[in-house]
Amino acid sequence: MPFNTALTRKLGIRVPVVQGGMQWVGYAELASAVSNAGGLGILTALTQPSPEDLRKEIQRCKKMTNKPFGVNLTLLPAMVPPDYGAYAQVILDEGIRIVETAGNSPGTVIKQLKEASPPCVILHKCTTIRHAMSAVKLGVDFLSIDGFECAGHVGETDITNLILLSRARQTMPIPFIASGGFADGQGLAAAISLGAEGINMGTRFMCTIEAPIHHNIKQSIVDAQETDTELVLRRWKNTSRLFKNKVTAEATRVERESTTGKFEEVAEYVSGKRGRQVFLNGDKDFGVWTAGQVIGLIHDIPTCEALVSRIEKEAIETLTSASKLIVDQQPEPDIAGKPMGDMSADPRRSETARKNPGEAQIYDIGGKSKL
Ligand SMILES: Cc1cc2nc3c(=O)[nH]c(=O)nc-3n(C[C@H](O)[C@H](O)[C@H](O)COP(=O)(O)O)c2cc1C
Repeated sequence: MPFNTALTRKLGIRVPVVQGGMQWVGYAELASAVSNAGGLGILTALTQPSPEDLRKEIQRCKKMTNKPFGVNLTLLPAMVPPDYGAYAQVILDEGIRIVETAGNSPGTVIKQLKEASPPCVILHKCTTIRHAMSAVKLGVDFLSIDGFECAGHVGETDITNLILLSRARQTMPIPFIASGGFADGQGLAAAISLGAEGINMGTRFMCTIEAPIHHNIKQSIVDAQETDTELVLRRWKNTSRLFKNKVTAEATRVERESTTGKFEEVAEYVSGKRGRQVFLNGDKDFGVWTAGQVIGLIHDIPTCEALVSRIEKEAIETLTSASKLIVDQQPEPDIAGKPMGDMSADPRRSETARKNPGEAQIYDIGGKSKL
């Protein structure tokens, strides 16, 4: 049974799952695999050194899928900002009409993308309701509401998705998807219940066979717990959630102890160049790299096809079984019956959770990625 949400209808996808833009991860291999699996794959424009390289990457992706895919354009503060207008023009010239925007002052780029014929469908990522409202005024089509759990730029307000999504539902006049902390179909079902039209996932898609990063990094995610991320750069109001490692420990120490408060003191630790090397050489302690709290929910390295199909199945089962909690008449109390702790008949508990409390379910799919 296919999903029918504003997201699946607008984008022409089967499963309301988007793979968010990811620097040094969002290449054609991953985006095409997600789109082929029925979700929306997204290339990350700035992983390409120039607009012309982005053109080649889009053309490569078109050869790998005939399904819709999008491009992420992230506008972040930089000493020498990339030529965003030129990247946007390549996106338009190549006929891409789904764009994920993120970051500061996206107005000019959004205008450019919206003035095209036909105009782009824009999903704009934001971590606060205030920013979401500004994006609505700029004419975006969907908001991608990124909770404090998320990987990367979490913003400075620390509001988790349980509140943020409901605030979006209460206040936003346009559809939104839920981003940050999602890894499975139960999460998709929860997001839909809170008013979202689908979910956006980053970290979970890093840990798939097709993600073009070193296998050791995927294994580090599988081995990690939800407590293994660290927030850095709060002092400079550019808070990022990163995988906790030796370099984030040093960076947070400098951030805490610096008497000058000069960014230069921490810059070498948070260098994007070293972070990129992590994905190539597989040494998780070589530099800083982005990951969300959802690492605690990731226990395998499936193909995108297996992952998206599993999420679809789990969400359908969850939404269906949740509706069975509503009955015609209130049942008799079961005071003398089973103890409350016995959830063996509850389909929302995994078999592992019932039989081996404390252990997570590990699915029978996995494998070694190429890198
Ligand atoms: C390795 C990595 C790199 C990312 N790079 C970007 C980026 O360049 N631009 C962007 O808008 N979001 C970026 N993100 C954020 C994701 O698109 C997505 O919003 C986020 O991962 C959602 O949280 P989750 O990881 O809990 O699913 C990145 C995430 C990861 C894990």
